This record gives sequence, C-alpha cells and structure tokens, in this order.
Amino acid sequence: MPVFNPVDGQASAPRRGEALLPLIGHTPTVPLRFEPEGLTVWAKCEFLNPSGSVKDRLAKTIISDAEERGVLKPDSIILECTSGNTGIALAMVGTALGYAVKILMSHTASVERRYLMQQLGAELVLFEATHGYRTGINLTLKMAAEDPRVFLPRQFENPLNAEDHERGTAPELIAQVPGRIDVFVAGYGTGGTLAGMGRGIKARYPQARVIAMEPAEAAMLLGECPCCHYIEGVAGGYLPPLLQSAPLDGEIKVSSAEAMTMTRRLNREFGLLVGTSSGANVAAALRLAAELGAQATITTLLCDRAERYFSTPLFDHGGSR
Ligand SMILES: Cc1ncc(COP(=O)(O)O)c(C=O)c1O
Repeated sequence: MPVFNPVDGQASAPRRGEALLPLIGHTPTVPLRFEPEGLTVWAKCEFLNPSGSVKDRLAKTIISDAEERGVLKPDSIILECTSGNTGIALAMVGTALGYAVKILMSHTASVERRYLMQQLGAELVLFEATHGYRTGINLTLKMAAEDPRVFLPRQFENPLNAEDHERGTAPELIAQVPGRIDVFVAGYGTGGTLAGMGRGIKARYPQARVIAMEPAEAAMLLGECPCCHYIEGVAGGYLPPLLQSAPLDGEIKVSSAEAMTMTRRLNREFGLLVGTSSGANVAAALRLAAELGAQATITTLLCDRAERYFSTPLFDHGGSR
C-alpha cells in the first residue's frame, strides 16, 4: 500500500516491515477475577503480540536500533541463543526487514517453536544444553568471532531489552490499571521483563514491590540448584546479567504442577489461550493477592500463547481431552 506524505503530497513506497512493526506492543491489560477466592489480579496480555509473545518487543527494538546505528547490512545474519520465543520474534522481525536469522536453541525447547521459526525462514541450530543457556551463549560468541556478517542481539545482557519495558510496557501497564500498583510479579529468562517493568513501575509508584517468580524446582535466586522444570522460557539454569539491574524486593516459588494447573484454569475458566509461564506468573500473583488482601493491586504478564505447548505436558490430559 502506498504511504501518503502530508508534506509534499506525494505517495511514497512503504518501508519493508511497515506492515508488521506497528502491530507490536500496545497490548491490553485485563482483570482476572478469581472465584471462589474472591480476588482479582491484573494481567498484561503480551501473548497478543503478532508472533505470540512478549519477545516481539525486544526483537523490534534491538533490530531497529542496530539499523539506525548502521550496524546491520543487507548480508547481516542475526544470531541468537534462545529458549524459543525470542527466536520466533527475531525470525519474524528479521524476515519482515529482509535479514537472515539463525537461532541456537536447546534441544529441550518445544517442537512447535522450531516449526514457527523455520516457517518464518530462520535457520535453526539445536544444541545440547549441558550448562543451560551458558552453553548456547558461548556458541554464539564463537560463531560471531568466525563470521563478520553475524550480528548478536545479546538478549541476556543488552540493556535495550530492559529499557524497552521500562519506557514502553511499564507506562502502558500503569495507564491501564485503575489506581496505584502495589506489586508486579513475573518470572525471568533474560531478566529484561523484571528489570524494565520493575524500574518503570517504581518510578511511578516507589512503594510498589517487584517480585521474581521462580520455578520451585530451580529457585536459583534463593541459592538452590537448578533442576528440571516444565515452565518453559524461565529459569534456564543461569542468572542473567540483566537481572542484576532489576529492583527486586523478593522471590516466590511456583512448582511446575501449580503452574500447569493455573495455566489450564486460565485456558478453561477464562478462555485465555496462554502458555505455562503465564500460568506460573498468575499463580504467584494470586498467592500474593491472598497474602496482601483484596484492596492490593497485583499485576503480572501473560507471556505467550498456548499453541506452542501442544507437545508438552500442558496438553497431556491423561484421557480427559
Ligand atoms: C514464555 C516466556 N515467559 C517468560 C519469559 C521471561 O522473560 P524475560 O526474558 O524478559 O525475563 C520468557 C523469556 O524467554 C519466555 O519465553
């Protein structure tokens, strides 16, 4: 579609990516009213981003910034290690802007994520995650050293990941929730969400508490050893550098079983087709709401969509399908 230029009255050709980029962000926030608990928590619907997750925001911001700084060239290869959602988001934004995208992903990430990245044209490299994310991050550094065309978004340490939430997602949430925010709770993968949302919310409401949700099986902030869990996308056996800039006031543990029960509740009682980390976030938010009382405003994020979990235990209903 031609774009009308109001200055000279001429129609100009649209920039590649113009159809996609405006669809990212500006997600709604909804109240989740829990009966019989008689409690409400507020959830920002990041699963409504075009690729289906909160990661669309960082993909748009980091790639646009690299373009503006002249770092990206037509033959550049965007290379990232990810648990999946960042890979899908980078593949989507990279494709829309005409760049090649290569994704390193643990062989444990769900197969749906692989299909989506490949459908978007990304090249996929699976690795054995013996030391969690660290293994994949080291591999990306090695590949970048060997090929000058490689651009590394570095989601685990790039300050733009958190700044984007601080300047964008947090002000959106503040405007969407009636009255003040008392708590923001979420899990961490890169820590970008907790760091950025925490800073943005505290700038407006300094009394607000920022709480990290951790899988009970991998509560690393509490000094425990990481073990297997089913809350995909969070706690990848690694405390990411970005998390250090998160203004944390505490941690809350949610088991994989509790996360899955709450995710199914969100699916079946609220009709919200979200994935397991969203269920974990809401389980944590509901527990905090019960502790602080119905007058407290507890907020969280719904991170991604249920469709990327068909092959995981979330959809294993033991015959009750
Ligand atoms: C499904 C899901 N939930 C939560 C997160 C955590 O977000 P962040 O990386 O901002 O800490 C991720 C990160 O990849 C994710 O994929």
